[in-house]
Amino acid sequence: METKMDEIARIELDGKTIEIPIITGSENEKALDISKLRAQTGYITLDRGFKNTGSCMSAITFLDGEKGILRYRGYPIEQLAEQASFLEVTYLILNGELPTKAELESFESEIDHHTLVHEDMKRFFEAYPAKAHPMGILASMIVSMSTFYPESQDPNRSQEAFQLTIKRLIAKLPTLAAMVYKNAVRHPFMYPKNDLGYIENFMHMCFAMPTEDYTPNPVIAKALNKLLILHADHEQNCSASTVRIVGSSQANLYASISAGISALWGPLHGGANQAVIEMLEMIQEDGGDLDKWIAKAKDKEDPFRLMGFGHRVYKNFDPRATIIKKACDDILDQLGIDDPTLDIAKRLEQVALEDEYFKSRGLYPNVDFYSGIIYRAIGIPTEMFTVMFALGRLPGWIAQWKEMLDNGDPIGRPRQVYTGENARDFVDLDKR
Ligand code: CMC
Repeated sequence: METKMDEIARIELDGKTIEIPIITGSENEKALDISKLRAQTGYITLDRGFKNTGSCMSAITFLDGEKGILRYRGYPIEQLAEQASFLEVTYLILNGELPTKAELESFESEIDHHTLVHEDMKRFFEAYPAKAHPMGILASMIVSMSTFYPESQDPNRSQEAFQLTIKRLIAKLPTLAAMVYKNAVRHPFMYPKNDLGYIENFMHMCFAMPTEDYTPNPVIAKALNKLLILHADHEQNCSASTVRIVGSSQANLYASISAGISALWGPLHGGANQAVIEMLEMIQEDGGDLDKWIAKAKDKEDPFRLMGFGHRVYKNFDPRATIIKKACDDILDQLGIDDPTLDIAKRLEQVALEDEYFKSRGLYPNVDFYSGIIYRAIGIPTEMFTVMFALGRLPGWIAQWKEMLDNGDPIGRPRQVYTGENARDFVDLDKR
């Protein structure tokens, strides 16, 4: 990682000049290193929602929100989405380099080796209500895995134990996600078939039935491969930051990933993919009056927001959304599906892109705007959409967690500006 630390910024504070080191990243991103500011001056910085705060130095993913650039380990997302397999990208994100043919084959075979989950985990599913949200079950299942592998509980124990935990997570998340799906539709669980590829095996565990032959449709497998790659990492987003902060207390990897799944669930983050489809269906059922819904989204008194629109970092376009929009057209075409929500989504995008409110705020479709339409077309129920996001994001979460430990980052513990009552004496109950 190339960083320069020879520049200094100076600020005037309480009549003193304070020198603050400037850090420059390998893509010339500049940061003021304020880590000693409080010790030097008594001041902290305030940045609600961390809109302008770098929490770490990272060599995994680069994104430039103004130019719409996204790269994993230097490789452009457009090339990876078109040419790589999800496990290849997983290897790249975790190890920093693309695998050779032999390395990839060995990685794939190690993952195959760990796809089964402990039989006792099947019993957990019996306890959930039929309408339980898949993300709630998935987060519980992942943290529960730590109880089956007590050696994983100390993150510093050994490289070997740690590598095994990584492989178990990558291998078992699709199995558990498929079990969540089968539980929701009340179908029997299907065991993994390890002669299938990673994506095809997931499709088999979701869509096969014990009574029928099942061959995964290659068009669907290709679409899923692309979607998972597009979601594989996104630097310091809400769930990755959660994974890092939980892991920074030296909680184990399963616990940290489970926390990431919970953070992802929210509709402002990964849960937006479910919220977008629900919004498009609502607009359709309401008669399709787009002007009405655009006006609602702009009205500050109205809680309605255009789901799948806007991004903390992308202010011109989200490169993932550009790829997904094209994939959406192709897949629906290849599967011969005519989905009215795609038409609504495209018209909504057009109206919003021409509207001054959205233009002036840099609000564009994000990764979640079109992804749900693809999931729907390939038979994934709406409440499972965010589980699909989690499947894709897993390598990123693991790499962020590992990098945090490797870099020796301290425990995450922000400060605050206190705005409550000043000290006062306790009043006895009968005098209040
Ligand atoms: N609809 C209407 N207005 C919006 C929207 C929207 N979707 N998004 C932002 N705005 C407005 C917001 O009200 C604010 O207006 P003003 O300056 O007048 O107060 C301005 O645009 C800036 O928005 P913000 O909320 O300050 O921006 P943020 O960076 O805090 O939030 C966001 C980013 C993604 C949470 C937000 O754009 C949003 O809620 N979008 C809808 C939910 C969504 O699609 N989330 C998925 C994000 S991509 C997947 C992932 O998480 O990686």
